[in-house]
Amino acid sequence: MNSNVIISTERLILRNWEKSDIAPFVQMNSDPKVMKYFPGLMSSDQTLQFMERIKLHFEEYNYGLFAVDEKSTGEFIGFIGFSHPRFESFFTPCVEIGWRLRSEHWGKGLATEGAKACLDYGFNVLNFDSIYSFTAIPNVPSINVMKKTGMKHIGEFNHPSLSEGSWLCKHTVYKISLSEWEADHYKCE
Ligand SMILES: CC(C)(COP(=O)(O)OP(=O)(O)OC[C@H]1O[C@@H](n2cnc3c(N)ncnc32)[C@H](O)[C@@H]1OP(=O)(O)O)[C@@H](O)C(=O)NCCC(=O)NCCS
Repeated sequence: MNSNVIISTERLILRNWEKSDIAPFVQMNSDPKVMKYFPGLMSSDQTLQFMERIKLHFEEYNYGLFAVDEKSTGEFIGFIGFSHPRFESFFTPCVEIGWRLRSEHWGKGLATEGAKACLDYGFNVLNFDSIYSFTAIPNVPSINVMKKTGMKHIGEFNHPSLSEGSWLCKHTVYKISLSEWEADHYKCE
């Protein structure tokens, strides 16, 4: 098995990043559908800088945003994983789970499948107490992933890097604790 593999699900592999991910990652971050709920598209340089930040995060924490392959094709389809928001808010510092998939791979349940496996890894391997996720309020597809993984709404905040007049400024925050995860996954028969 590829030694880069960190998490394996029915249809996905979550793994460390490889040089060959650069081209499809640049393509994903320049797709207007994918970047609809972000302030803008990412240029190639911005994506390379983002990859560098992901690499530094892995070096510091030994986990991060994992590259995702679809098993049936071996194709890179995006990322799912953990990061640490760098801004101050009522729920930070915290561990955040996030996801971004190439638009051709939406609508197959892959984000939710990968996110559930990641939460399991976060609680059972990385020993997190709680995991948070947040997104701009209009980003219903992402909020749906939060709900389907069992995360609960805990509040809203204005994202500090967006102007208050922006339609993306107001964000919603979801959270799941270890005890909630265990209650959902280890029910007594
Ligand atoms: C957020 C994002 C990852 C969600 O992707 P997604 O494919 O919609 O999410 P899911 O994996 O939960 O798939 C759900 C859909 O798959 C469908 N589906 C098909 N087969 C399925 C299966 N076997 N199991 C589960 N769902 C399945 C569901 O019915 C649902 O479709 P619907 O939305 O039309 O009802 C995607 O929209 C994305 O990458 N967006 C851009 C980046 C972004 O905004 N990230 C979040 C920023 S904070």
